[in-house]
Amino acid sequence: MFDYENALAPFTVTVVTGGSSGVGKTFIALLAEASPRMVFCNLSRRAPTGLPETVERRLAHVECDLGKPDMRAEAAGEAIRFIRRASNRTRILLINNSGFGSCGNFSDAELAGQLDMLQVNVAGVLDLTSRLLPELRERGGAIINVASLAGFQPTPYMATYGATKAFLLNWSLALHEELRPHGIPVQALCPGPTATEFFRRVGYAERVVDGRHSMTPEAVVRASLRGLARGRAIVVPGWRNRVLATVTGMLPRVLCARLAGRVLARYRLSQVRPAAAGKGAA
Ligand SMILES: NC(=O)c1ccc[n+]([C@@H]2O[C@H](COP(=O)([O-])OP(=O)(O)OC[C@H]3O[C@@H](n4cnc5c(N)ncnc54)[C@H](OP(=O)(O)O)[C@@H]3O)[C@@H](O)[C@H]2O)c1
Repeated sequence: MFDYENALAPFTVTVVTGGSSGVGKTFIALLAEASPRMVFCNLSRRAPTGLPETVERRLAHVECDLGKPDMRAEAAGEAIRFIRRASNRTRILLINNSGFGSCGNFSDAELAGQLDMLQVNVAGVLDLTSRLLPELRERGGAIINVASLAGFQPTPYMATYGATKAFLLNWSLALHEELRPHGIPVQALCPGPTATEFFRRVGYAERVVDGRHSMTPEAVVRASLRGLARGRAIVVPGWRNRVLATVTGMLPRVLCARLAGRVLARYRLSQVRPAAAGKGAA
């Protein structure tokens, strides 16, 4: 049995984005359980709800639309003040988890929604990491960037989403190397389909994420935390997903795109009305 408590002992402050649901909320719940001293600063539009009271007491929520550069800067300032107030504590864990996707043909998509996706999934991660990095370098820390299995190949009918995650995957790997001498591991967490609000939010009503094809957010987060303890630069939770990531890495990229297009078309992602995309929950 993996000893999460021991592995997480060096961290007592976590800054997380998107802790209001799914993977982000599960990170808070599992970290709080494994590390009773840990305090949390969450950045998202909605506040996390339904967590045990003992956890909510250790959680500060900063309301923020990470797609808006001004709000982002303000929220990052709040997060830094939070870290400094807890400055007697040790290493800082930064989890860049907020993100959303959209399905459908790019030619049918609203440009504003696609650009917002770049803001949240890419610019938001860069911005927050850049602003918090001096604190991590001073106190020690680690970074988890929630990318996706979609980042390993082009994803027709989710073209922009897959590309944002490919960016995160490569950027995280590069940062892992740059920050290695400073003792700050950077992990690209690359889940496959996971049972969260994600697909409903992109307007995909069908059960693409049923029990057979998806993992629970708990399994995803546990894999990430085991990877963190081992200093892994990439974590792909689930053996099926790992096989897929390995195989796509070996195929010519053009062939990968063709095959991915066929698979995603089978799930009728090409027929999702992109109007719902990019709206998130707000
Ligand atoms: N579920 C999957 O199948 C899957 C697979 C691979 C990767 N992922 C990635 O996992 C991460 C978490 O997604 P999830 O599956 O847990 O889906 P989710 O339940 O929809 O959670 C998404 C989180 O992102 C936050 N978010 C979205 N837009 C935001 C904005 N403009 N500003 C601030 N926060 C925003 C949401 O918070 P608010 O709405 O409160 O702002 C929410 O907490 C995402 O990066 C996603 O791309 C998911």
